[in-house]
Amino acid sequence: MHTMTLNNGVEMPQLGFGVYQIPLEETAEAVYEAIKAGYRLIDTAAVYGNEKETGQGIARAIKEEIVTREDLFVTSKLFILQTPEDKAAATIDHSLEVMQLTYLDLYLIHQPYGDVYGAWRALAAAQKAGKVRSIGISNFKSAKMIEFVGLTEVKPQINQIEVNPWYQREEDQVWHDKYGVQIEAWAPFAEGRHGLFQDPVLTEIGAQYGKTAGQVVLRWLIQRGIVVLAKSVRPTRMAENIDIFDFALTEEDIAKITALDKQESAFFDHDAPQQVEWFMNRMLDTEK
Ligand SMILES: NC(=O)c1ccc[n+]([C@@H]2O[C@H](COP(=O)([O-])OP(=O)(O)OC[C@H]3O[C@@H](n4cnc5c(N)ncnc54)[C@H](OP(=O)(O)O)[C@@H]3O)[C@@H](O)[C@H]2O)c1
Repeated sequence: MHTMTLNNGVEMPQLGFGVYQIPLEETAEAVYEAIKAGYRLIDTAAVYGNEKETGQGIARAIKEEIVTREDLFVTSKLFILQTPEDKAAATIDHSLEVMQLTYLDLYLIHQPYGDVYGAWRALAAAQKAGKVRSIGISNFKSAKMIEFVGLTEVKPQINQIEVNPWYQREEDQVWHDKYGVQIEAWAPFAEGRHGLFQDPVLTEIGAQYGKTAGQVVLRWLIQRGIVVLAKSVRPTRMAENIDIFDFALTEEDIAKITALDKQESAFFDHDAPQQVEWFMNRMLDTEK
């Protein structure tokens, strides 16, 4: 497995498995299958509601001696109403407890809303206490990331943001490189939006190597030096998505992918009023 070294010297796998939108009753099995398939980076979040089941899948893989805890890189995140410092500290402890873990490898502020500075103090304290090895942010646009780095003592190791062929974020990558913050891509397949898995350009590139459009996308992100999370509940697709380390895209292939950029999220803009309104309403539903 390729790894990336974060700005605190911690090494993390470059390809990981995400559990967003996996039905609760399938999560433990999916995480276990993913570890069996070779994934070592596992990504969940408090708001996904499946931290406990994710922990169960991890515990089973460790019990069956497929991996040790140290082989794995486990991530969780806190949500908007959990950002005040005291709540953030309690949320980290809660994640550890429900996941049956003594430490997490990465903990993120999930959304760029709320008391992100209070949350950051709690994350930094948890890092100092050895509860989390690395800390970071998610869904921060470059301008906000720069402000955040400027106003905090501990620099985020990671910013987990949407990156896929429709929203390539090349300029954002330049800014993140400048500040030493590693980009981690969510929704690398844009969850299949805009016909990603059938896209003729991606399919044609893949055909040269006996690979699928999905494998081309993951390989492209790996070659860009981005950490990438892929999600599937199906073991065949888990195997397909991790089978990307035996070929390389050429400059010509990459130029064709670059030309697909729509420079727009396949989902939503975190600064759009209707989106912030949606988050506030969702927060009321799920967090209060
Ligand atoms: N920080 C954030 O705000 C944020 C937001 C979104 C996601 N994430 C993280 O990023 C992870 C990945 O993103 P995502 O789950 O939203 O989207 P994604 O990985 O882009 O797409 C997942 C979808 O693609 C399908 N799929 C996967 N592999 C496939 C293949 N080889 N061929 C055809 N279809 C395939 C899956 O279906 P099946 O499962 O049926 O195979 C699923 O419907 C999440 O699980 C989560 O951990 C973070």
